[in-house]
Amino acid sequence: MKLGRLLAEANAGNGGLALIGGEAGVGKTRLVQAVAGDVTAREFRVLVGRCYEIEAAPPYTPFVEILEGVLASALSPEAFRELLGDDAPEVAKLLPRLRRMFPDIPPPLELPAEQERRYLFNSLADVIARTATTEPLLLVFDDLHWADEGTLQLVEHLAQRLPGLPVLAVGTYRDTEVTPTHRLARPLENLLRQHLAEQINLQRLPRKDVAALLRGLSGQQPPPALVAAVHAQSQGNPFFAEEVFKHLAEEGRLYGEDGLFRDEVVIAELDVPRACVSYSAGVWSASANTGAERWPPPLSWAGPSPTSSSKRSASCRPMPSSTHSMPPNRPG
Ligand SMILES: Nc1ncnc2c1ncn2[C@@H]1O[C@H](COP(=O)(O)OP(=O)(O)OP(=O)(O)O)[C@@H](O)[C@H]1O
Ligand SMILES: [Mg+2]
Repeated sequence: MKLGRLLAEANAGNGGLALIGGEAGVGKTRLVQAVAGDVTAREFRVLVGRCYEIEAAPPYTPFVEILEGVLASALSPEAFRELLGDDAPEVAKLLPRLRRMFPDIPPPLELPAEQERRYLFNSLADVIARTATTEPLLLVFDDLHWADEGTLQLVEHLAQRLPGLPVLAVGTYRDTEVTPTHRLARPLENLLRQHLAEQINLQRLPRKDVAALLRGLSGQQPPPALVAAVHAQSQGNPFFAEEVFKHLAEEGRLYGEDGLFRDEVVIAELDVPRACVSYSAGVWSASANTGAERWPPPLSWAGPSPTSSSKRSASCRPMPSSTHSMPPNRPG
């Protein structure tokens, strides 16, 4: 699989960036979690930075989280200060509390705005490069469709450095939200055009994988009729498949008194919570125009700006993405 190859290359000092796109609930975060769980055992250090669906989120939030992770996993505050070296004044712009921890940090250089940003980006990339000298890194940027402009520019900047570093960066994003005017559209196009990122598109599950999902949730073999019905209702979206399953379980419609699946789960009985129906309608309508909606389009594409989906109003999401469990930034 592509991520396996990229990890092996990163391990050999030739890092890169992978961008995992797919609709809401298709399994992007789950895939990264699985990879993160796997590579932790292979001596990679995993550092996670998330983007949040908050209007006035502080800039560079995922990088702040990643740096917090580096700090948390440092052998000592002094070791962290040493790692920062001359880049400390720039890093302290993102983590102001460093100035209280290390009063020796000098004030940042005063530079014209454009130069200042470049200086900041170089400093942060240098710190990441130095962090990777002790063990290879897996950097996760979850939900990049919510990233602020600065974060996206910094990811682009970092992507240019990665080929010389033992660092694999993996970003996830909802491709159904990235219309041509979306903030992520241009960086995504640039990165792919310059071959600085590899794209991975996650698709809905085929019926056999829905069967496996139901087997995982129930601990028993699901009857084919149930698999077919859940697959049809969810259209292979694992999040919705889980929701349909949970709903039916809560309604007491799945299992007989013996705790086993009822033989006859009547297909007409299958329904989903009302909120999920309207949520899924948003997802499906957004993805129904695929091709035109997916971003990036073929490089020459210049289509009309599609409307955004109604996913935001979803009320059946059990949790915002930000609360998905990802391995915590692992103390070393
Ligand atoms: N292949 C799969 N098999 C079983 N369960 C899955 C699979 N893919 C995803 N899931 C489950 O579906 C749910 C949604 O997955 P996940 O959170 O990874 O989606 P996502 O693509 O990151 O969505 P979002 O865009 O909202 O962040 C999770 O509970 C996850 O465990
Ligand atoms: Mg996710």
